Amino acid sequence: MNRALPVVRLRVPTHEDAFAWHRIFDDPDVMEFHGGASAELSVYEELTARQRRHDAQLGFCLWTMLDESGRVIGFTGAQPWDRDWGPTGEIEIGWRLAREHWGKGYVTAAARQTLERVAAAGLTGVVAMVDARNSRSIAVTRRLGMRLAETFTLPSGPREAHCYRLDL
Ligand SMILES: CC(C)(COP(=O)(O)OP(=O)(O)OC[C@H]1O[C@@H](n2cnc3c(N)ncnc32)[C@H](O)[C@@H]1OP(=O)(O)O)[C@@H](O)C(=O)NCCC(=O)NCCS
Repeated sequence: MNRALPVVRLRVPTHEDAFAWHRIFDDPDVMEFHGGASAELSVYEELTARQRRHDAQLGFCLWTMLDESGRVIGFTGAQPWDRDWGPTGEIEIGWRLAREHWGKGYVTAAARQTLERVAAAGLTGVVAMVDARNSRSIAVTRRLGMRLAETFTLPSGPREAHCYRLDL
């Protein structure tokens, strides 16, 4: 793709970002592959606090994404996959973007910055776990040059998750 990527800035999530994430992700389209329903504010307060700990301990986290005008539009970054199924112990990259900003390349731009940052932090590879029906997210993995490595059945139900990998 030759189109210029939009400008996007990444920062360690502040406590206030929990309110912004709660507001911009309160959307059935955004939550389609995350249980469908909106998450409580407390979920985002815990999630942003956890990312500040990851940043302090690992040098990377799920960062808040800001557009060219400084508006919070979502998150993209990396964190340990801490569940007891799937790529346990590996580092996953992930993204979530407010609906009004889909279709502009923001996440591809943010994910490229993420890959540069985690490579600089010493990682030699990352995974991305994506619901097999989430074609928009799978398209992001494709734009990043990731390869489908494994398919897992989600413990929560008869659904499949794709594990994409990228060596850095
Ligand atoms: C998954 C998700 C982040 C993808 O968002 P997205 O905007 O499609 O992804 P990107 O930022 O990479 O943008 C790609 C789109 O921008 C367009 N685009 C414009 N300029 C571009 C550029 N320079 N480079 C790449 N894409 C560009 C692409 O054509 C594509 O749009 P299209 O699919 O309509 O053709 C978004 O759908 C989302 O937040 N979903 C809900 C949460 C979620 O499922 N997260 C993933 C969990 S695994």
